Amino acid sequence: MDPKLLFWTAALLDLAMLVGFALVGVRYARRGEIARHQRAMRIATLLVLGFLGAYLAKVFVLGREDQAAWSTLDVWVLRIHELFVLVMLVAGGVAWTQGRRLRETRLVSHDPSDPEPDPVTTRRHRIAGRTAVVAGVLGFLMAIGVLAGMYARASL
Ligand code: HEM
Repeated sequence: MDPKLLFWTAALLDLAMLVGFALVGVRYARRGEIARHQRAMRIATLLVLGFLGAYLAKVFVLGREDQAAWSTLDVWVLRIHELFVLVMLVAGGVAWTQGRRLRETRLVSHDPSDPEPDPVTTRRHRIAGRTAVVAGVLGFLMAIGVLAGMYARASL
């Protein structure tokens, strides 16, 4: 199998797992199981960082994709996918920084002697987190299209 195709197949599996952990993490947050929420989001973040590291190594060793043989549709699917991934990274970063501010509050510790959470931080965290998760799901769906195009071209 073409090593680049193998790399992107593994990348899709990584994205599927990270979206899965993020969705499970949202369910935990809704149930008030914040320690589990944090753990699921940490694993999702590690899967993002793992991908970014692997991608840099791939560009270094195998080079970038040659898009000369790609149709206009394939290129658009890739661009939209990249846009969703960018939104996921930025919104996920915002959710993470706001989440860190919630850590010292009773919302996370359940200790009544800890301070109340700032409602603005809580709201920002929720909105940024939901944005990141929705962008991640859409980015994953578009990635299926990108990979399908790669397999189709490989069999020509
Ligand atoms: C430092 C780590 C984090 C902590 C301590 C944390 C903590 C919390 C807490 C306390 C809530 C409940 C807020 C409420 O009562 O409305 C919450 C909700 C939420 N968090 Fe986090 N979080 C963290 C990281 C993340 C990350 C990285 C994401 C996504 C990328 C995320 C996504 C969400 C979402 C989507 C909700 C709202 C769930 C819903 O009600 O629909 N969190 N988080």
